[in-house]
Amino acid sequence: MPVSTIEWKDGKVRMIDQTKLPTELVYLEYDDVKEVWAAIKRLSVRGAPAIGIAGALGVVAGVQNSDAKDFEAFYAEVEKAADYLATSRPTAVNLFWALDRMKRTALENRTDDVARLKQVLLEEALAIVEEDREACRRMGKNGAALLKDGDTVLTHCNAGALATADYGTALAVIYAAVEEGKSISVYADETRPLLQGARLTAWELQQAGIDVTLICDNTAAQVMKEGRIDIVITGADRIASNGDSANKIGTYNVALLAHIHGVPFYIAAPISTLDLSLSSGDEIPIEERGPEEVTCGFGTRTAPEGVKVYSPAFDVTPATYIHGIITENGIARPPYGESLKKLAG
Ligand code: MRU
Repeated sequence: MPVSTIEWKDGKVRMIDQTKLPTELVYLEYDDVKEVWAAIKRLSVRGAPAIGIAGALGVVAGVQNSDAKDFEAFYAEVEKAADYLATSRPTAVNLFWALDRMKRTALENRTDDVARLKQVLLEEALAIVEEDREACRRMGKNGAALLKDGDTVLTHCNAGALATADYGTALAVIYAAVEEGKSISVYADETRPLLQGARLTAWELQQAGIDVTLICDNTAAQVMKEGRIDIVITGADRIASNGDSANKIGTYNVALLAHIHGVPFYIAAPISTLDLSLSSGDEIPIEERGPEEVTCGFGTRTAPEGVKVYSPAFDVTPATYIHGIITENGIARPPYGESLKKLAG
């Protein structure tokens, strides 16, 4: 991939500052858990799998200089770092999945000394990165079978290299199809209010040399009506056991439009995005963002001071509008209650 979105380098979490794209490609380096928390919160690092990776590496950063003398004292620090990082953003389950995994790893190695425990936690975080890379490749391959030569895909938000350790989830499907020699075009919704589609998806597809056309969010119906779209593929932040899928606000609109226009709508997400403890999407916690992102986005005031704003960052697309969920273990089809459980193993 042209970019390394998030990695562990020389004792620090190194990440692209995605708030600066597409005009500047700037890297941030943090060895402090509070700074990693703030980077997740302000969306310097974003996208469900990348948030999970940031959480795992953030725990390593938080305890690497610990001078705890025994397991109990060290584990208290691991728990403190993980619980703090868990308060950064509530919707992407990958964060909680990764933090739980880090805590469990510490508990499972409680007989090791503190120096060894630090090493074991770093290895676990790096394993999460590696598994995500592998999952992206497998998701891409599984999903590419859905695309024909000459197809045009509509996507929403950014579910590409900038959201993962490798080449994405929804965009992985496109990259893999192109690798197979297919000619694929993409329409990218700009994705108000933070413009992940315009700033990130359009940028990363351009870097990869893939034909991309940017549209305003309110153009999606028109391009479908004009017959320009063969398939919609988006990512997800959390998928309930019945297949209801939370993703960037506006995804539900796109799914409804796709339904009305007879365009198949797919989600691409790794198994770490499944939350089989939830029976439906009604139970998914939805993050609300501050009003200034809507009224004064990127420093320009576009609404009157003091106006009331409601800004949920995600919505939930009911499973009934989802043709399939592309994972690294295969494509789940309705009824999702059975198929997701089977793919999750
Ligand atoms: O608020 P963001 O930018 O973190 O939202 C990201 C999305 O909604 C993505 O589509 C989702 O996390 C999947 S990323 C592979």
